Amino acid sequence: MKINFILIFILNLYVRVIRSSNILIFTPSPWRSHIVYFQPLFLELANRGHNITIVSKFPVKNPPQNYTQVIPSYHFDSNRRSDLLMQDRDLYYLFVADPVLRSTILVDTANLFMSDSVVQKFINEDRSSFDLVIVESFFQECTVALGHKYGAPLISIVPVAPWVSVSRWSANPSDFSYIKDFMLDGGKLLNFWERFFNTYIGLYGLFVEPITYLPKLEDIMNTYMRYPGHETRPTMAEMLQNISLNLIDSDLMILSPRPYMPNFIEVPGFNIQQDGKINQRLQEFLDGATTGFIYFNFGTVLNVTSIPKSSMRVLINVLSRSKHKVIFKWINNNTEGFPVNFYVDKWLPQREILKHPHCKVFITHGGFHSLIETIDAEVPIIGFPVFGDQYQNLKTSQDYGIAIKSNIFTLTEELFERDLKSVLTDQKFSENIKKLSAIRRDRPMPSLDTAVFWVEYVIRHGGAHHLRIAAVDLTWSQYYLLDIIVFVFFILSLFICTCYFIIKWMKRFIFNLLTYEQKND
Ligand SMILES: *[C@@H]1O[C@H](CO)[C@@H](O)[C@H](O)[C@H]1NC(C)=O
Ligand SMILES: *[C@@H]1O[C@H](CO)[C@@H](O)[C@H](O)[C@H]1NC(C)=O
Ligand SMILES: *[C@@H]1O[C@H](CO)[C@@H](O)[C@H](O)[C@H]1NC(C)=O
Ligand SMILES: *[C@@H]1O[C@H](CO)[C@@H](O)[C@H](O)[C@H]1NC(C)=O
Ligand SMILES: *[C@@H]1O[C@H](CO)[C@@H](O)[C@H](O)[C@H]1NC(C)=O
Repeated sequence: MKINFILIFILNLYVRVIRSSNILIFTPSPWRSHIVYFQPLFLELANRGHNITIVSKFPVKNPPQNYTQVIPSYHFDSNRRSDLLMQDRDLYYLFVADPVLRSTILVDTANLFMSDSVVQKFINEDRSSFDLVIVESFFQECTVALGHKYGAPLISIVPVAPWVSVSRWSANPSDFSYIKDFMLDGGKLLNFWERFFNTYIGLYGLFVEPITYLPKLEDIMNTYMRYPGHETRPTMAEMLQNISLNLIDSDLMILSPRPYMPNFIEVPGFNIQQDGKINQRLQEFLDGATTGFIYFNFGTVLNVTSIPKSSMRVLINVLSRSKHKVIFKWINNNTEGFPVNFYVDKWLPQREILKHPHCKVFITHGGFHSLIETIDAEVPIIGFPVFGDQYQNLKTSQDYGIAIKSNIFTLTEELFERDLKSVLTDQKFSENIKKLSAIRRDRPMPSLDTAVFWVEYVIRHGGAHHLRIAAVDLTWSQYYLLDIIVFVFFILSLFICTCYFIIKWMKRFIFNLLTYEQKND
């Protein structure tokens, strides 16, 4: 036992010593939660002796040694974005506004961070050599050029369940009948309209984005990725097909099981591995809430002031009548104007609050990280989805019986009161969430170790192209077997025609024979 332990220790040390690689993480985008989620992985890689260089707008305080941070200087107006996101999804939004958003506003954002002077300086002047480049897949395909610049294999971090625009490069399955686009408002089993809409978004991604979106990103690449040697680089599509591995921030094991190609690896739950601090005022408030408390938080992307005024009034009125205390994420810590049972602040240690034994229900926008945290803490949910994957997160949670999915745009006091009462009193919610929580925790190894393993795996083998399935090299007519179908039809029609003519000929022959015999009779 002891010897084993020492052996493992020495082996560990050995593994640490032999591999110290230079890793570039290039994630200059303003999508905070996408990048902050993966920070534990980046820090862990540094702790294991790799030399990390990271281009990111979200630096860590007190970075470890060998963790160089390059911080872009551009300004991103997140308040305007919050108002933009806070709109009810009508048919116009679903069919027109959202697809257009993907190829306009998201392209403008890519332009914004790629043209940033700090980012430009890094791209043009950095002369280091890297063994691995990590980029983010969320509407910034142009960044793959850095793999070419450094002649290094690429890993892509994927902030939600991979959708068509990400899956296509590795021929990862996207069957529209049951694999949801991350924006789809659908549960585990899709009904007719959900499948219809999923097919619409899927086909849009496959056939319209290559005309409306990808050329724009290729233009950005050609404008802002002009390092020495860029003249000889392959096309953006070729480089995207050459990505070695995709690390996915999603837990479809529990939300909606689906197939993945060998180079798609889910690494959920980094966010529940850190413990935060809790201030004394809050600690006392939580401990004092002996009848339990309700926790309200709409996440970091949405500004709570964007919630429609009437809905906000409904929320506060109903919560003020509750015998429970309320922890309310607001824009500051000023309780003036809030009912007496409220605690408000602009930042709250979510994991600690959810883990507190007095926490009864979580009122959330249904962001994926919040969902995983609340499943881990076994606290049931009332959800008000607003954008992105929140609709399907909450619908699936509702299917599992751990949540009630509501609507912030059409909320009334009666509805909210009914839902709140139901989640607070019906035992089935907490029973279901306990089960789901146990399933979620039951993994062969912690996600962080899984992620580190795969990153080092790609470095050890100078890429992971052996994981790439042959489908990537097929044209789509080959992939969907259109050539085979045409061929079979051709042979079949040839056969049918031949039979037809043979029968026709035989009929005539027999007829002639008969008439000949009749004549001769
Ligand atoms: C940082 O890198 C240097 C040079 O490779 C190495 O000697 C040192 O041990 C590294 N430090 C850590 C904490 O890994
Ligand atoms: C580590 O990365 C930094 C920043 O890119 C670089 O200056 C330094 O030379 C690297 N260290 C080693 C040992 O490669
Ligand atoms: C694919 O990546 C490898 C390095 O991992 C590189 O040698 C090769 O040139 C790349 N091919 C394309 C088409 O980008
Ligand atoms: C949210 O919006 C309010 C007013 O619209 C503003 O005063 C506040 O600073 C915003 N909060 C954040 C975190 O952006
Ligand atoms: C409220 O926030 C301000 C500044 O952010 C701080 O100085 C003050 O101590 C806080 N008040 C309470 C009661 O926490």
